[in-house]
Amino acid sequence: MTLADVNLHFGGVTVLKDVGFTVEPGTVLGLVGPNGAGKTSLFNCISGHYRPSSGSIRIDDAEISQTRPAGMSRHGLARTFQHPALQLESTVLDNVLLGGHARLPGGPASWAVRLPPMVRSERELRAEALDRLEELGLGWAAHRSADELSHGLHKGVELCRALMARPQVLLLDEPAAGLSHGEVDSFIQTIHGLKAAGEITLVIVEHHMGVISALADRVVVLNHGSKLMEGTACQAQSDPRVIEAYLGKDSMDSNDSTDTRDGIGDDAA
Ligand SMILES: Nc1ncnc2c1ncn2[C@@H]1O[C@H](COP(=O)(O)OP(=O)(O)O)[C@@H](O)[C@H]1O
Ligand SMILES: [Mg+2]
Repeated sequence: MTLADVNLHFGGVTVLKDVGFTVEPGTVLGLVGPNGAGKTSLFNCISGHYRPSSGSIRIDDAEISQTRPAGMSRHGLARTFQHPALQLESTVLDNVLLGGHARLPGGPASWAVRLPPMVRSERELRAEALDRLEELGLGWAAHRSADELSHGLHKGVELCRALMARPQVLLLDEPAAGLSHGEVDSFIQTIHGLKAAGEITLVIVEHHMGVISALADRVVVLNHGSKLMEGTACQAQSDPRVIEAYLGKDSMDSNDSTDTRDGIGDDAA
């Protein structure tokens, strides 16, 4: 995926200014920066929730910057949200299955008829969804109602849902925020598994530098809507401009986690 000169304005406010980078297929890019830097807005531009004022966003040869969210799965793109929105009355398993709907044969009309290929596909999707949940340590919750789960666990469910679409490019917005140490470890293992299997390209927005160090091949730092630097996690953490951006804002730990491992310059995982 390649972004070039992405700009986003709301009225007179510039949210993103000339942002550009390439994520090589099969690699993980960490997107970091203080709160308000524009990370979620950039995800919104990629996923079609916002339309960039100018610039280009390409997956392979397809220009996607003018595509609406509903068209994103056609381009192999899936995402999770900083504040997950699940169907709270449905079971966790049903929430995860929603992510796989686009892979069922036929369309909604044929789903209602329930022909044998359809039933078979559904059974396969269910098994895959349960495997995904199991992998993230959420197997126990499959048949619980989503509203019984904590915010942290909703993140895991949302990740499973996104993976069910078998995306080529996956965007994760603060996937580790609010997770316990054990849940963070399961998350890192899951992403390592995806990386080892190849083929998926990931962009991860995360304040938890242990997660970024463990997973990101490259890091892009945003500040005030502009790219401040690009390099390895190590280079980012020791770059004086990055340290200043964080210290100046004093916002590295202002997410909902009190985990002292959060924060630039701390690479414990
Ligand atoms: N829909 C919008 N209208 C106006 N301003 C917005 C909108 N979305 C984001 N912004 C502004 O863009 C800036 C970056 O926000 P955001 O992308 O959420 O940052 P981050 O995810 O890095 O914390 C903030 O100042 C925010 O208020
Ligand atoms: Mg954000």
